[in-house]
Amino acid sequence: MTEIAFLLNGTPIRVSGEAPTRTLLDYLRETRGLTGTKEGCNEGDCGACTVMVTDAAGPRALNACILFLPQLQGKAVRTVEGIAGPEGQLHPVQQAMIDHHGSQCGFCTPGFITSMATAHAQGRHDHDVVLAGNLCRCTGYAPIIRAAEAAAGAAVPDWIAADADPDAGQTLADAAHHPTTSDDLARIYAAHPEATLIAGATDVGLWVTKQLRDLPMPIFLNGIADLKQINRQGDQLRIGAGVTLTDLRTALAESHPHFSAMLTRFASEQVRNAATIGGNIANGSPIGDGPPALIALGAVLHLRQGDARRSMALEEFFLDYRKQDRRPGEFVEAVTIPAHAPVLRIYKLSKRFDQDISAVLGAFNLTFDEGRVITARIAFGGMAGVPKRARAVEAALLGQNLKAALPAARAAFAEDFTPLSDMRASADYRLEAARNMLIRYAADLAGDAVSVQEVRA
Ligand SMILES: Cc1cc2nc3c(=O)[nH]c(=O)nc-3n(C[C@H](O)[C@H](O)[C@H](O)COP(=O)(O)OP(=O)(O)OC[C@H]3O[C@@H](n4cnc5c(N)ncnc54)[C@H](O)[C@@H]3O)c2cc1C
Ligand code: FES
Ligand code: FES
Repeated sequence: MTEIAFLLNGTPIRVSGEAPTRTLLDYLRETRGLTGTKEGCNEGDCGACTVMVTDAAGPRALNACILFLPQLQGKAVRTVEGIAGPEGQLHPVQQAMIDHHGSQCGFCTPGFITSMATAHAQGRHDHDVVLAGNLCRCTGYAPIIRAAEAAAGAAVPDWIAADADPDAGQTLADAAHHPTTSDDLARIYAAHPEATLIAGATDVGLWVTKQLRDLPMPIFLNGIADLKQINRQGDQLRIGAGVTLTDLRTALAESHPHFSAMLTRFASEQVRNAATIGGNIANGSPIGDGPPALIALGAVLHLRQGDARRSMALEEFFLDYRKQDRRPGEFVEAVTIPAHAPVLRIYKLSKRFDQDISAVLGAFNLTFDEGRVITARIAFGGMAGVPKRARAVEAALLGQNLKAALPAARAAFAEDFTPLSDMRASADYRLEAARNMLIRYAADLAGDAVSVQEVRA
């Protein structure tokens, strides 16, 4: 395994001899004795292991339990032990947590402190969003949010600001496992189709921490800058496979506000900061949130194998449960979507509002002419073994007045879907919920308040 260099709490370190799938959490606790970073779930769900990771794009909070050491090459890592100053000066968020009684048993507190210090360095005020991925069982969130608000105006301490220039990044990473261009990736992967691609590791991380799998020849994609771009091409947006869900959420805020809002409920801040749209598509989960939204938009997927490229409608990529139309050595390069989609709406139904996998996710994108539906793209997650278009429902709506066609369209759901029952929802519930989402869409387009949050307010 190659050598990796990064800054750890302000000190340059080099790591060698570790397996490429050693997690940062295990390394911190077992090798460095930095036990302030806690292990709660070991699967990205609780935020007890949150660390601050800074690179040229700025600081972000990540879950150390599903972060592999090579993903840190050239970056600055700050654990809870490095949040206070070198002379022991408390960070403003630490002082505020004391002042506002933000900690009881304390198990979650290091994770909260690192999330809060990261958001503080970013100048964020959306504390509910920032902290949705940090689980606290005993204090309750009100004192913690009060602490975050109280610290928001304080200056960023020098020792935190110093991470902005990591200067740890002597190019040590081994090009075979850590390509820096998609051309290099294409060459290496075509020669080693047995390799495992690792982008954000928010799915792959669990193969290691929960399924205890050995990964043949991991290839890390997070150093490939050209896969992280979003470009406007005429009336299309081309989104690179390596774009994180955090960056996508920001980029779509104006042009696709409903997509962006759905992404706020995609996992948590820490997961979105690592997870990529390419990983969400390639993983092929029937309950992934990205694919149905993209299918409703009419997204085109761009794949590359060596120098050969091909494109397809995204829905054609998902062949069967966990079976995608991807050839050996072929990777997802990008996805293109229309630059605007004013009638796109996406409804995510999950047991918890924040940080939860969808039971059903419906994405609707109809266009109208003189009150009649002239184009229809409707797609669902959680309703079949793949993210799937509702073609019979679409057919029932085409050429019709939306409201008048609702009864026929409701009936058509049974032609499109035979959902399963599992711990998230029963088959009947899923079918009825999907039907009701169409009613909701009609009400939404008519200007009615349909969000739980709007109705409550
Ligand atoms: C706590 C938690 C909550 C989550 N919540 C949600 C949620 O609300 N909604 C949701 O949809 N998902 C959720 N996920 C799943 C996960 O975050 C997403 O699927 C994410 O988009 C995966 O992206 P990644 O970059 O981390 O992929 P990785 O884990 O790196 O890779 C996933 C798969 O894609 C492959 N891959 C990655 N990039 C490429 C590429 N460019 N070309 C070809 N193959 C590639 C990998 O080999 C692997 O098979 C959650 C995960 C966790 C841990
Ligand atoms: S230990 Fe729970 S998110 Fe990492
Ligand atoms: S203080 Fe006990 S879990 Fe948060």
